[in-house]
Amino acid sequence: MTTDDLLLEVNDLKVSFFTPVGEVKAVGGISYALNYGEVMGIVGESGSGKSVEAYSVMRLLEFPGRIVGGSVRFEGHDLLAYSQREMEKIRGNRMSMIFQNPMESLNPVYTIGNQLIDVLRGHAKDNGVEVTQQAAADKALEMLRLVGITNPERRMTQHPHELSGGMRQRVMIAMGLICEPQLLIADEPTTALDVTIQAQILELMKSIQQKTGMAIIFITHNLAVIAEICDTVVVMYGGHIVEQGTVEDIFYHPAHPYTKGLLRSMPRLDEQKGERLIPIEGTPINMLEPNPGCPFAPRCEQCMKICVNRSPPKMSLDPSDDSKGFSAGGHRIACWLPFKAFSSAGGLL
Ligand SMILES: Nc1ncnc2c1ncn2[C@@H]1O[C@H](COP(=O)(O)OP(=O)(O)OP(=O)(O)O)[C@@H](O)[C@H]1O
Ligand SMILES: [Mg+2]
Repeated sequence: MTTDDLLLEVNDLKVSFFTPVGEVKAVGGISYALNYGEVMGIVGESGSGKSVEAYSVMRLLEFPGRIVGGSVRFEGHDLLAYSQREMEKIRGNRMSMIFQNPMESLNPVYTIGNQLIDVLRGHAKDNGVEVTQQAAADKALEMLRLVGITNPERRMTQHPHELSGGMRQRVMIAMGLICEPQLLIADEPTTALDVTIQAQILELMKSIQQKTGMAIIFITHNLAVIAEICDTVVVMYGGHIVEQGTVEDIFYHPAHPYTKGLLRSMPRLDEQKGERLIPIEGTPINMLEPNPGCPFAPRCEQCMKICVNRSPPKMSLDPSDDSKGFSAGGHRIACWLPFKAFSSAGGLL
């Protein structure tokens, strides 16, 4: 990979919420890189920091959340150095986000058409371009058609509550895409929908991605969804990345005990109907008082002494990868287990 391919680089990002009962370390230092046109999945159970991470990249984090360390570079620019005004120009234009709950992010008092038109004209204006009402309306109609909304002329005049959940989600996707971003962050865009509609929306996002070549970060609980549309995967647990790699690495050669647990506990597309899912034992960690070692240690079947006390190093599992520390590509885990074989003699573990 050359730097010309690099769209987004997140390095050691740390995010905390400063609550009356203490500092909640929601994201504890995560690093990844995304190329132009790449579709990356972020998977992890509820509370693992997926949304907080995405909101931080978009600089949409609200009080009492604060980015306390690391960097976010997007198209070569340091986003954390930008003012909110500068960020507004980038959001919706170069990067946009589809939120977990479409009802919270659509304005109930405006028609669908007006909301799409406003987004388009607002961003064009930020870029010093004047788009007429008619041109914006034409583009809004085109977007509604692209996301598979039937009778789009009529939908333009309706309010969000007049649409079904699936339709609202499609409107959200249209809103996210209307300015043709280089990066779309989709935060659980299908969880609120029934299975058939979920499949349709996934198909739709896949085909739009192929048409436009935009990069997508797809956040989900569901590994089956990842397998369906992603090139690469980041597995999060307790605010950390525990494993990352290509879809093939994660599905066929999972190395971290948490990833293996996830694969055992989640429905897969190739799974026989009725096969029992094995839940991961134990409860998620307390983010207020995380242990100093691996976040997964208290639930890990293969936990060793060192796992509780020392944060595991991130290591590459690709024999050809000789990069030290963070590198964008490749199959990596943060785990002490690979060290077990050669250090058990020395008593380190
Ligand atoms: N407003 C807040 N105040 C305090 N802590 C918060 C706040 N919002 C999030 N957190 C903390 O950040 C952690 C990560 O939350 P986040 O919403 O990113 O999880 P998630 O992985 O997106 O989960 P889900 O799959 O349920 O959407 C939570 O466990 C919580 O401890
Ligand atoms: Mg979330």
